Amino acid sequence: MDAIPAQLKGRSFLSLSDITPDELQALLSLAAQLKAGTLKPTCNKVLGLLFSKASTRTRVSFTVAMYQLGGQVIDLNPMVTQVSRGEPIEDTARVLGRYLDVLAIRTFEQADLETFKRYSGIPVINALSDLAHPCQALADLQTLQEAFGEIAGLTVTYVGDGNNVAHSLMVACAMAGVNVRIATPPGYEPNAQMVEQAKAWAGERSEVVVTTDPIAAAQAAHMLYTDVWASMGQEDEAEARKALFAPYQLNETLLAKADPAAIVLHCLPAHRGEEITDGAIEGSQSRVFDQAENRLHAQKALLVSLLGAD
Ligand code: CP
Ligand code: NVA
Repeated sequence: MDAIPAQLKGRSFLSLSDITPDELQALLSLAAQLKAGTLKPTCNKVLGLLFSKASTRTRVSFTVAMYQLGGQVIDLNPMVTQVSRGEPIEDTARVLGRYLDVLAIRTFEQADLETFKRYSGIPVINALSDLAHPCQALADLQTLQEAFGEIAGLTVTYVGDGNNVAHSLMVACAMAGVNVRIATPPGYEPNAQMVEQAKAWAGERSEVVVTTDPIAAAQAAHMLYTDVWASMGQEDEAEARKALFAPYQLNETLLAKADPAAIVLHCLPAHRGEEITDGAIEGSQSRVFDQAENRLHAQKALLVSLLGAD
């Protein structure tokens, strides 16, 4: 099937840098065709979900994607496997690699994903780590494309914490030739290596700006994006962060600075009244629920690309 980028077959997707800009475009194009129903590939394989953090969208969208492809899913909740009893990753990975065709993992350390990849011998997908959320970024760009068509040259502004979601969004935008501005409180900037990576992809084609000024960052932007101020694993910091992050809220005042056609995204789950207002998430410029739906299409595209269609 021509639309399926066969070069991803057998590979892992631990971060955006595991694919090229052309492969990213191919995935987005496949995701759009899957959403439109113009392609209906089948892939009778087995996906394991090993999630050490909570998840609604990622868990359900991967499960439904696999079912719609004619494949199957096994929920490997660490609490009901030997993972929570401390079985070494190297052992778990080698065993799972002999049963499963593909493994999606949600965890803390990016290095653990690398270990799973090395020892399992099957494609491993990052379903969120402390460093990156690359599957989210696929759906984010798909949503931007739906709103604007050609996305190269557009400007995306992220306000809030320089976290996993910000990292993957920033790198994905840079790979797609989209200008990206990340506005965070001082001390909460994105990881310097991720910024360097994004700048390298952007080259002369687009701009990567890291700033502490949310108002300047929002000027004429085509998309405003935010995420929670305290991620999973940072619950202890949530109260202390509230005052510090308040100027970085995605609200109607900020939206008024953006391009009139700007769209509002949030990866969800949201804390309304904290990082985003009810008005921004429920307003006419919000594409938050299209974005959530696109997780299904984008990850189905990813699964078919990594596994191949039947
Ligand atoms: N956006 C996202 O990854 O949502 P879940 O945590 O519900 O999977
Ligand atoms: N940054 C958030 C994203 C949740 C989808 C977290 O890691 O908790």
